[in-house]
Amino acid sequence: MDLFEYQARDMFEKHGVPVLGGVVATTPEEARAAAEKLGGGTVVVKAQVKTGGRGKAGGVKLAHSPAEAAEKAGEILGMDIKGHAVHRVMVAQGARIAEEFYFSVLLDRANRNYLAMCSVEGGMEIEQLAVERPEALARVAVDPIVGIDAAKAAEIVETAKFPAALQADVAAVIQQLWTVFTAEDATLVEVNPLVRTEDGAIVALDGKVTLDDNASEVRHPDHEALEDKASSDPLEAKAKAHGLNYVKLDGEVGIIGNGAGLVMSTLDVVAYAGEEHGGVKPANFLDIGGGANAQVMAAGLDVILNDPQVKSVFVNVFGGITACDEVAKGIVGALEILGDEASKPLVVRLDGNNVELGRTILREANHPLVTLAETMDGGADKAAELAHAASVGVAAPAAV
Ligand SMILES: Nc1ncnc2c1ncn2[C@@H]1O[C@H](COP(=O)(O)OP(=O)(O)O)[C@@H](O)[C@H]1O
Ligand SMILES: [Mg+2]
Repeated sequence: MDLFEYQARDMFEKHGVPVLGGVVATTPEEARAAAEKLGGGTVVVKAQVKTGGRGKAGGVKLAHSPAEAAEKAGEILGMDIKGHAVHRVMVAQGARIAEEFYFSVLLDRANRNYLAMCSVEGGMEIEQLAVERPEALARVAVDPIVGIDAAKAAEIVETAKFPAALQADVAAVIQQLWTVFTAEDATLVEVNPLVRTEDGAIVALDGKVTLDDNASEVRHPDHEALEDKASSDPLEAKAKAHGLNYVKLDGEVGIIGNGAGLVMSTLDVVAYAGEEHGGVKPANFLDIGGGANAQVMAAGLDVILNDPQVKSVFVNVFGGITACDEVAKGIVGALEILGDEASKPLVVRLDGNNVELGRTILREANHPLVTLAETMDGGADKAAELAHAASVGVAAPAAV
């Protein structure tokens, strides 16, 4: 889960990272009140959207009085920044910036490690800096066991070529940001810009935090409150309520599988098969995991069949710990539970543990919507064909 800047700001503050006052507002009036609460002086009104480059897009504006803060909020609220509608702003205390730096720490999957990145040239888009002048962006590997201790923080600021007089202060803030990273189980903490103010303080002026959702559920019950329920996809929200691992995609073929790896390859074969059938694509990722009983299968089908874009469904299950006969019973049970709500063709491919028994159960149930497929490729092809036929309003030839 990515956080809004104001949520990152609050989290930074909680762990002792120096930040400036910031108050969220959803109307110009609230923005005026927020600016008054912050002392009535110069503030910055900042669009709260989960994308970078807000400054360049006109989503960060200076205001010298509460009245001007209200006016700027009026301009920013309702803006569209890279496809994100602005529903709230943060009114932040204005900083007198002397210099802008960059710091981030993130999970480095490829190297099975953490990586800290730091530059004395912050503010601008860091991707551009990384491409144009990679030497200006220090990259320092962080051992997960040791973390960013005093020695590592010193190494980071030294590698980033901070002037000696600033190194200790910046290193101290970097260690506090590492505390945020570990204490909150983040996979990314990015500060751009980290600034030196005219009176010499080091302050995090912007914050991007990505939390590890796997850790949140068990270790951080308080993280649930950070979720932006209003803008989450309704199907994704429904799947989440059922405890399903679901990601909405753009295509027409609903996918259900067990195991993330199998589902990922199912997406690939369906996309490939779709090239022969009018360019249909997978409509979602859905991993129902190991214990695919009738309830789980029904919940999964319920989510997928409620996606108006879905024209056919491909159920691709490899029976392992959960045997195929259990899965087949699950599908039959799910169709019974859903009744008339199940109205789109289902292609089912089963393999693995107790496959013959599973297929027999499905054959005997003889549900008019279900087509059995022998292979994964064959199933993908059939599901793509059915989706295409439904999209163009032609009946597909029966049975494989
Ligand atoms: N509180 C603040 N006081 C003064 N200037 C600010 C403040 N917050 C942001 N800025 C300026 O606006 C720029 C863009 O803001 P930032 O929060 O980094 O948004 P984004 O990265 O989305 O463009 C910063 O680089 C900084 O120069
Ligand atoms: Mg920024």
